[in-house]
Amino acid sequence: MIKIRVINGPNLNLLGTREPEIYGTLSLQDIQKRLEEEAAGYGIELDFFQSNHEGDIIDKIHDARAAGFSGIIINPGAFTHYSYAIRDAISSVGLPVIEVHLSNLHAREEFRSRSVIAPVCKGQICGLGADGYSAALYVLQRRLQS
Ligand code: DQA
Repeated sequence: MIKIRVINGPNLNLLGTREPEIYGTLSLQDIQKRLEEEAAGYGIELDFFQSNHEGDIIDKIHDARAAGFSGIIINPGAFTHYSYAIRDAISSVGLPVIEVHLSNLHAREEFRSRSVIAPVCKGQICGLGADGYSAALYVLQRRLQS
């Protein structure tokens, strides 16, 4: 069975109550449940992880290949804009990665429009709320199952 790892970065544990006008009212648990149901429909196993710590996120990226994952969906939170360490971890692991953001980075503060992660990802989805995770899962499973 194909396995995909979903990684969420800092402050995303607060979804649902964190600036709902920007990030929506779904909690991370709501998003996880929805995505797990969709993954089950595709016959895919999901591992869902959130951390506020850069090193823990890097460890999960490193470990993904050895643990048998075929792809990664990542919302790095604010690390998106400055973590060269997460970027290097993604390019080192050699798995297809899709970057997801709930909000439209290009309609917000200037610093958010730059992602240091995007150049090493297959693609980036932003501004579609929680549907962005579903879109990333759809694309990854399509590529991995063909
Ligand atoms: C975010 C956008 C980031 O700029 C921000 O720091 C986040 C969430 C998003 O999902 O829209 O924490 O990644």
